[in-house]
Amino acid sequence: MTVSSINACEYMPGLEGIPAARSKISFVDGKQGILEYRGIPVEEIAKAPSTTFLETAYLLIWGKLPTRVELHEFESDIRYHRRVKYRIRDMMKCFPESGHPMDALQASAAALGLFYSRRALDDPQYIRQAVVRLLAKIPTMVAAFQLIREGNDPIQPNDDLDYSTNFLYMLTERIPDPLAARIFDICLTLHAEHTINASTFSAMVTASTLTDPYAVVASAVGTLAGPLHGGANEEVIAMLEDMGSPENIRPYIDRCLAEKKRIMGFGHRVYKVKDPRASILQGLAEQLFNKIGHDRLYDIAVEMEHVVEEKLGHKGIYANVDFYSGLVYRRLGIPTDLFTPIFAIARVAGWLAHWKEQLAVNRIFRPTQQYIGQHGLPYVPVTER
Ligand code: ACO
Repeated sequence: MTVSSINACEYMPGLEGIPAARSKISFVDGKQGILEYRGIPVEEIAKAPSTTFLETAYLLIWGKLPTRVELHEFESDIRYHRRVKYRIRDMMKCFPESGHPMDALQASAAALGLFYSRRALDDPQYIRQAVVRLLAKIPTMVAAFQLIREGNDPIQPNDDLDYSTNFLYMLTERIPDPLAARIFDICLTLHAEHTINASTFSAMVTASTLTDPYAVVASAVGTLAGPLHGGANEEVIAMLEDMGSPENIRPYIDRCLAEKKRIMGFGHRVYKVKDPRASILQGLAEQLFNKIGHDRLYDIAVEMEHVVEEKLGHKGIYANVDFYSGLVYRRLGIPTDLFTPIFAIARVAGWLAHWKEQLAVNRIFRPTQQYIGQHGLPYVPVTER
C-alpha cells in the first residue's frame, strides 16, 4: 500500500478493524467466541489439570509449550527473582495510602527500569532476564503496596510456594486454600493475552521506540487502568452492590439505557457473543462458592446477565471477561481496587510476548491523521486578545 492510498483511507475512530501488526501470539473470533493462545483454544489450556499461569506465559512469550526441564528452569528463575529492592519498597512507602494501586504499580514498574535498564535488546540473555524479572516482581509489588497502605511492612516471598499461592500469601499473610489458589491461577491464565487490545497496543507503541521493557510495561499498566478496559471489573462489583437485590436489576438497567450509560462488564469491541473467558470464569466462581461459601452478588449477576442479554443481545452485547472475574476475586477476600492490578499481573505475559514480537520486526509506530483544523491564521499578541 502506498502512502497516498493510506491517506485516502477512511478514518476509523479507535482504529477499529485496522490491522496494526501481524502476530502469531493469539487469535480471537468474535462471532464464534473463540480465543486461542498460539493456536491452542483457551478452554483446552484452562481445563488441563497440569496447566499453570507460568506455563501459559512461557507459551505466549516463547511460542511453544515448554518441556518439563524448560518449565522447571523458568519457574525456578522466577522464584529466585521475586524479591524487590528495598529502595523500591521504600519508594512505595512514600506513596499516599489513598492512591490507586494501579498508579502505584505503574510507578513501581517504571522504577524497575532504574535498576535493570541496559536496553541490550539484541541480547537474548537480557530479554530473558527482563521477562523473568517482570513476571517475578510485579506480583510482589502489588502485594507490597497493599500491605504498606494498611500500615504494615511488606512480607517477603515464600520460596516454597508456587506463583499464585505465593502472591495470595504475600497479599493476605496466610497460605490460601489450594483450590482457591488453583482457581486464581486459572484466572491469571485467562487474562494473560488478548490480541491487540488498548494496553497491548500501548505496549507495542512504546516497544517500537526501542526503550526498555520496564517502560513498555509501565505504559501498558497506565492504559489498562481505564474504566473502559481493565478497570471495568472493579465497577462491576460497585454496580452489583448498588443494585443490592434482584428486584432492582430491571429498573437499574432501564435507567442506564435511558441515560445512555455503559453497563459495566458487558460489550466488547471484538466479541459479539458471550466472551469465552466469561463462561469459564462463571464456572470457576461456582466451583469456588461450592467449596468456600456462596456470594449473594453472584445471584444478582446471573439474573442481570439474563436481563442484559434480553435488552442488548440484539446489538451483540454480552458479558465480557470482567463480569465474573471480580466475583471470584471478591470471594477470595481481595479488595476491589486490586482487581485491575491482578489483571496486570496476568497481562504482563501478553505484553512481553508482543514486546518480543515487536522487536523482531520493529518499525516505529507513526500513524497519520486527517487534519480538520484551520490554516494560515494570524498570530494575535496577548495584549490584543
Ligand atoms: N452498555 C450499554 N450499551 C453498550 C455497552 C454497554 N456496556 N457497550 C456497548 N454499548 C452500545 C453503545 O452504546 C452503542 O450503542 P448505539 O449503537 O446505539 O450508539 C453500541 O453498543 C456500540 O458501542 P461502541 O461504543 O461502538 O462499542 P465499542 O466496541 O467501542 O465498545 C467497550 C467496547 C468499550 C468495551 C464497550 O462495550 C463498553 O464500554 N463496555 C463497558 C465497559 C467494559 O465492560 N469494559 C471491559 C471490556 S473487556 C476488557 O477490556 C478486558
